[in-house]
Amino acid sequence: MPVLQENISLLPYNTFRLKANARHFVEINEPSDLVALLSSAMIKEERLLVLGGGSNVLFTEDFDGLVIKMSIGGIDARTKGDDVFVTAGAGVVWNDFVGYCVEHGYAGVENLTLIPGTVGASPVQNIGAYGVELKDVFYSCTAYHIQTGMSKVFFAEDCKFGYRESVFKNELKGQYIISSVTFKLSMNAVVNTSYGAIQAELDRMAIAAPAIADVSAAVARIRVSKLPDPSTIGNAGSFFKNPVIDLEQFERLKSRFPDLVHYTMPGGGEKLAAGWLIEQCGFKGLVSGHTGTWKNQALVLVNHGGATGQEVYSFSEKIITTVEAKYGVKLEREVNML
Ligand code: FAD
Ligand code: EPU
Repeated sequence: MPVLQENISLLPYNTFRLKANARHFVEINEPSDLVALLSSAMIKEERLLVLGGGSNVLFTEDFDGLVIKMSIGGIDARTKGDDVFVTAGAGVVWNDFVGYCVEHGYAGVENLTLIPGTVGASPVQNIGAYGVELKDVFYSCTAYHIQTGMSKVFFAEDCKFGYRESVFKNELKGQYIISSVTFKLSMNAVVNTSYGAIQAELDRMAIAAPAIADVSAAVARIRVSKLPDPSTIGNAGSFFKNPVIDLEQFERLKSRFPDLVHYTMPGGGEKLAAGWLIEQCGFKGLVSGHTGTWKNQALVLVNHGGATGQEVYSFSEKIITTVEAKYGVKLEREVNML
């Protein structure tokens, strides 16, 4: 049975750098730790929180329950023709996984360079950036059912991936703990530079025929220029999702606001750039007490030092209300509230 700790500060375990304590805390280093934990009585008695890197959570109060910190490591690759199936433990740092793949010439995840967090959390919100989503490279994941302790393999079609969505955030929320993820990558790299900013960055780097390492480097450069580094400024990336609206609402808005930034979704609907909506409401770079929005990216809420989760939450409420009053669009939080 893994060691159970009591009254643990969660400050080192959340990238917003918020103060909160967990009543109980346990670190899982092996699948067998998980099996032992799930067969213990406390699993049924306590409120549970599965935590990876804590880069998509906002603690608004102490956590009166058990935090299960996922630290299962290991990366294993098997090639099959031009494909390579790479399995990584839930606790592997996502960007280390990307680095491993880029180094070995396994193509597919290079556009997802520098996303904070762990491999185990990557299917939960179907992480995405720079023209690629996890679902494009996901093969399967192994997850343990919290109530029965049984393991189950989920394939892509079981996961109901959508924009920042999966079955693990919806129907099966709070029911499974992901222990490893298998990705289907390619030994034959076809780089994806379709996302505008990548090509421009490669041009600046004077790279005409990019390899996956170049794409990874370009994405890293763009991200560093736009996003605050959580090791110095607390944040959880985009605080809200980009809202998707129907064509009729879009046409009405576009006629009133011709500069509206939007993208047509493959399955229909228009996705609006929430960062633009928030900036147009005068919030970009605004400092409000200990919190505010990032100077280069209005969609990112930050902790300037000493903020409480409640303060960040109240500020986010103000943004939602203001954007809704001006545009009639209700922003939905991407970050998990606790
Ligand atoms: P956590 O924050 O620990 O957990 C997130 C959720 O997943 C929680 O509900 C948790 O219970 C659940 N969870 C975690 N691990 C498991 C597991 N093993 N099994 C079951 N459930 C689990 N996201 C993007 O999609 N694209 C981006 O470009 C992006 N950029 C970011 C930039 C910055 C600077 C930051 C701070 C965040 C960014 N994010 C981005 C958000 C974040 O990186 C992702 O959501 C990431 O997948 C979170 O991983 P984590 O391990 O930190 O998860
Ligand atoms: N914009 C503004 N003002 C801002 C920010 C953005 O006007 O302050 C407009 C600009 O026109 C810009 C456009 O919005 O061109 C899009 O901005 P950006 O390229 O920075 O992307 P985003 O839509 O704000 C999304 C993801 C990010 C992901 C990037 C790159 C969501 C909620 N966010 O941001 O993911 O890294 O695209 O693909 O979908 C995250 O989920 O935490 C995250 C950081």
